[in-house]
Amino acid sequence: MPTSPRRRARLASSLALALGTAVALLPAAPAGARPAGDTLFTDQGNSGYQVRVYDVTMDYQPLTNRATARVLVRARAARTLDSFHLDFSGPRVTEVLVDGVAARHRRTGAHELVVTPAEPVRRGRFTVAVSWRGEPPEHTDADGSTEGWVRTSDGAVALGEPVGAMTWLPSNNTPGDKARFRYAITVPTGYEVAANGDLVGRDESATSTTWRWDARDPMATYLAMVAIGQFDVHESTTTSLDGRTIPIWSFTDPTTGSAAEARAALPEIIAFNERLFGPYPFTSAGLVVDDARVGYALETQTRAFYPPGAATTSTVVHEVAHQWVGNAVTLTDWHDIWLAEGFAVYAEWLYAAEHGGPRPGQRFDALYARPASDDLWSPAPTRFTDSADLFGEPVYLRGAMTLHALRQRVGDDDFFAILRAWVRRHDDANVRTRDLVRLSERVSGEELSGLFREWLVRDGKPRGY
Ligand code: ARG
Ligand code: ZN
Repeated sequence: MPTSPRRRARLASSLALALGTAVALLPAAPAGARPAGDTLFTDQGNSGYQVRVYDVTMDYQPLTNRATARVLVRARAARTLDSFHLDFSGPRVTEVLVDGVAARHRRTGAHELVVTPAEPVRRGRFTVAVSWRGEPPEHTDADGSTEGWVRTSDGAVALGEPVGAMTWLPSNNTPGDKARFRYAITVPTGYEVAANGDLVGRDESATSTTWRWDARDPMATYLAMVAIGQFDVHESTTTSLDGRTIPIWSFTDPTTGSAAEARAALPEIIAFNERLFGPYPFTSAGLVVDDARVGYALETQTRAFYPPGAATTSTVVHEVAHQWVGNAVTLTDWHDIWLAEGFAVYAEWLYAAEHGGPRPGQRFDALYARPASDDLWSPAPTRFTDSADLFGEPVYLRGAMTLHALRQRVGDDDFFAILRAWVRRHDDANVRTRDLVRLSERVSGEELSGLFREWLVRDGKPRGY
């Protein structure tokens, strides 16, 4: 979680204004290049196709931060496409093939790679192979934070929330389009590569090693992570609530410590979240600690990322909780980010209470005591208009308070049943706030739209619960 969302939000509001203007001035897109329909990042994604698999092949040189990459996107067209686009703000594109045939391509706007195949793509399966070469850029968010391809002292780490994946991954960069990811990343001998999913191969040649990772469970592009550098690699296992052996692969930068406490706590923190949300939703786990200069940890799928010093117990609980709420069950639209952050904060509150900390009710009361003028109350969690507010207090804290208000209304039995049903029902899929309202009403038998409106939509301090 971010160290100081409020400070960053203030710093960057002017940048966000500029961004808003740029979006408004974009020319209307051709039919095949219509964006995905996100209401916050209106120019991200493409509604003309859905991605099944990203096959990422990359050769990376840590000393120069230069890479040669080929991303094979296996997709399904929703309709005939004369042309379409991928979000990409990375280096020079050297070749684009559609179903193996060279296609015309050009860059437009800040981040679009428009592809015009020799023959229109027919409805159904097709592939796009994008080759690029060069040094991928960082991406600065409206709140002033850094994401994208972030350089470290001995390599780089790719962090993509909300939109930074496009700095290296030509993609349908919108959370509603989840896909399988496979990586084959080649680095000089002596370097290690962490990514999402399961480590399925390590092919060594005389001078280099190719690290193969497979993230089979569908994943949003914002959760894609690649960390390259010199790491200590720690392997262990844990057993999930449903009896599976879950490999844990953790990568820690030895110059910043070994994160021994966080690694030791992982199995217990996973087990805690399983009691809350149900069986661990993926096939492997772990963490990455690296010296990227970013002010936040990130719940990158299966293997969350922590900058030095960030892997405290509460933050590990938070990022592990996201594996269920945010990663397995993913927002469709960025205005629903509270469905990730509010839940992860509430998991932190519950964990702390089980370990001698304040009870959620006490946290709620302390926050509720803040004056009506406090930034916590505005904009309401789903009502920000500026992407600089994505990681602000209303989303995190008022979001968690919303869940506590729900719990007070429906009682503990129904509340915890709702949490488990939420994940069981929407595992591997995408959700909107209205899905939670509906589910909560079904489980509790109560009319709850008023409560959710008061807590998530109405500007200003809510009128209790
Ligand atoms: N989702 C992260 C967390 O709370 C925070 C990400 C912040 N990202 C950013 N670009 N500022 O766990
Ligand atoms: Zn979070």
